[in-house]
Amino acid sequence: MSGASANIDSVETIVRPFVGRTGGLISALRAVQAKIGYLPEVTEAAAAGAFNLSRAEVKGVISFYADFHRAPKGRTVIRLCAAEACQAQGGRDLEREIEKRLAGKHGKTSASGDLTLERVYCLGLCSAGPAAMVDGALMARATPDRIEAAFTAKERRKR
Ligand code: FES
Repeated sequence: MSGASANIDSVETIVRPFVGRTGGLISALRAVQAKIGYLPEVTEAAAAGAFNLSRAEVKGVISFYADFHRAPKGRTVIRLCAAEACQAQGGRDLEREIEKRLAGKHGKTSASGDLTLERVYCLGLCSAGPAAMVDGALMARATPDRIEAAFTAKERRKR
């Protein structure tokens, strides 16, 4: 099921088995994201109806957790640490250079769908910053060249 074909009935079908379970809403949202690839707009209404919550409550949960996303991600996801220790080790310059080289913008997915650039706040590599993550692979002492090489290699494999 793609995001474009997701309607409220299909999302309700995914959500309903989690009603009444401990942590059911989070599990339901995870299931929707796993199935569709992201949380389409109709998720709020479907989950609110199923769990007898307001749409605002569901929206609050979705926006609280950084792992939930409201739009499809690019084929490759690059996360750059924007927390203090990495900022002190050149994180801001790294982000600027990556945006320039890969024509991306943090928080956005490129129009071609090849790249999503995200800021995260700590990847657990604080003493070896700036830290990055390319499709789940951690990178300590990240440089523009290393990130670009990892991105290019991933793109080549995915085509
Ligand atoms: S501050 Fe960047 S990895 Fe912890």
